[in-house]
Amino acid sequence: MQLIDNQYFIQNQNVLEICKKFGTPLYVYDGAKIEEQVNKIKSAFGGVDLKIKYACKANTNISVLKLMKKLGVELDVVSPQEMKLGFMAGFSPEQITFTSSGVAFEEIEDSINHGVIINIDNLPTLEKFGQKYGGSVPCMLRIRPNVEGGGNIKIMTGHKDSKFGIAIEQKDEILAITEKYNLNIVGLHQHTGSDIKDGQTFVDAAAVMLDLAFSFPNLKYMDFGGGFKVAYKEGDIVTDMEDLGVKLTTAFKNFCTKYGRELQLWFEPGKYLVSECGFLFATANVVKNNPRKTLIGVNSGLNHLIRPMMYDAYHEVVNVSNPNFAETNTYDVVGYICETDNFAKERVLPIANEGDIMCFLNAGAYGFTMSSNYNSRFRPAEVLIYQNQAYLVRERETMEDIVKNQILADF
Ligand code: LLP
Repeated sequence: MQLIDNQYFIQNQNVLEICKKFGTPLYVYDGAKIEEQVNKIKSAFGGVDLKIKYACKANTNISVLKLMKKLGVELDVVSPQEMKLGFMAGFSPEQITFTSSGVAFEEIEDSINHGVIINIDNLPTLEKFGQKYGGSVPCMLRIRPNVEGGGNIKIMTGHKDSKFGIAIEQKDEILAITEKYNLNIVGLHQHTGSDIKDGQTFVDAAAVMLDLAFSFPNLKYMDFGGGFKVAYKEGDIVTDMEDLGVKLTTAFKNFCTKYGRELQLWFEPGKYLVSECGFLFATANVVKNNPRKTLIGVNSGLNHLIRPMMYDAYHEVVNVSNPNFAETNTYDVVGYICETDNFAKERVLPIANEGDIMCFLNAGAYGFTMSSNYNSRFRPAEVLIYQNQAYLVRERETMEDIVKNQILADF
């Protein structure tokens, strides 16, 4: 979002006009930013056979998925529903990986029936898989490397107490099952967490995986997961993609030489691709002077963007109706949900008035996908701006959506 002559724009689209046209609360995604992020990874890993598998749990709007496909990005899904959204967006089964996390075996069978490759994350499932398919269906293994990474404990997945993956200490059990059923293990996977501050975490986790890889002669892919860190505010540490590219490419190429074959290197980023492309716009319903604080109450809440309440996540706030910092005040920005519902605390912002459009940045990842109908509110509409055109890619919900599937009991 750029300020040009005192007005905010996304590409050539005037933000206030977009909000007027589609109403608020409104999610808007900047397709150009997605493309920029994709290109950063591609250019940092130009030296290897790279596949980017977008972790679509971050944002499953099918038009966003369609854009990913256009950009040559493939998909990582975690449910049959995400898989089907992938198909609707035009992905073929070979372009989709199902990274399961303790799912019912039927879901694994379902994805195999659709021709999607499966990433198995526990030994009992591997055993069942072996019994049913033996070596006839290739599969991947999710390994827990016991490397700590991630911005806070709720989004860390690679540590010793994590529920995710097959622990690296269980290598012998993995090999025993693989041998017993003559399994065709074609890929290894790891994901240590989200918002990983230190690039070294990727290098350390990769080292564990590359070491393990020598035990599997049929590998085609090494998947180093997602979790790249983007900036949520000025001065935030971010993943230095260029530096990571140099370090991992070197380690990977050395490995491939020793392994005797070139493998494909995969990543499955979510936030890195879509966090910064997304903006949640909401209207100030009220500016309220409490004795201790001045509050801006907007027509949205934790039902639309839960990250501040769930992870204490920081989201930058912009008053797009008043970009003038000559006169400011300190505000808390709160939602309209009937429980404590903060978007932001003690922010110095230009003077806010009723009716102003407030914008929350970094709303493209885990914004809409984690939204709900709490307080029986409608979920927002979504707009994707691509090549200077604004596409409505989801309608705002209506009362019909709220009562859909409800049954007034017949008593
Ligand atoms: N791969 C796997 C197996 C994952 O579980 C995840 C995220 C990713 C890739 C993508 O991670 P990313 O690049 O987006 O950091 N709702 C939380 C984040 C939860 C992440 C869950 N797994 C948040 O809003 O911070």
